[in-house]
Amino acid sequence: MKSKPYMLATDLDGTLVGDKEALHKLLRYFDKKIYDIALIYITGRHYASALSLIESEALPMPDVLISDVGTSIYMTKSTVEDKDWTKKMQTDWQPDLVEEIASQITALTKQLLPDNGRISFTTQSGKAPVIQLEKALIVNNVSHKLIFSSNRDVDILPRNSGKGEALTYVLEKYSCASVNVLVAGDSGNDIEMLSLGHPSVIVGNAQDELSSLEVHPQLYRSVQKYAGGIHEAWMHFYDE
Ligand code: GLC
Ligand code: MG
Repeated sequence: MKSKPYMLATDLDGTLVGDKEALHKLLRYFDKKIYDIALIYITGRHYASALSLIESEALPMPDVLISDVGTSIYMTKSTVEDKDWTKKMQTDWQPDLVEEIASQITALTKQLLPDNGRISFTTQSGKAPVIQLEKALIVNNVSHKLIFSSNRDVDILPRNSGKGEALTYVLEKYSCASVNVLVAGDSGNDIEMLSLGHPSVIVGNAQDELSSLEVHPQLYRSVQKYAGGIHEAWMHFYDE
């Protein structure tokens, strides 16, 4: 991956995935490029769920798969997890305490996940229970990062994880220093990685929660939706 001069670092649901025709057009466009493009998927899904989406949508296998909202990193060619990252994340992580505190808030329904590297919930009650949870975690001194997406998903992550931190780690460790990256996303859990200062695209179908992101020359809002938005932004940044 270190030899690839370009990189697409993209969210899956609602960004790369959502419009099959646009996706195929984007992949054909990339195939015609003379340069190599590294592919990184950065998803809220857990690892097995991301793999099943890759299979059902016939997506190309990425070089790196960042799953669980940036709490796990896998080198997909070898299917090996980057344990340094996991170890670093879990130093002050107290999942049992997060769970205990959240169980007092009835408007939060716990998501069933394969492990406790993150604790996630869904809510149908808007922001109020999310604010309540955040306050309770702070009062109890529980180190964490809270991410609210799509007015529904509430992710509690180890403090130094998340899609932005995980992407920065992958860029530093695995990619060529002068790589030309495009970051793509559509919802709240993408805010951090879209705000790193790399060329980035908020796709046309994005959730309202991204409308407050500050205007920035490196942040492009595409008219096209899903993979069509990635295609539009790639041409904007890199197709001279
Ligand atoms: C995906 C995941 C879910 C997570 C959400 C927001 O939908 O499946 O677990 O809460 O993204 O990050
Ligand atoms: Mg998404």
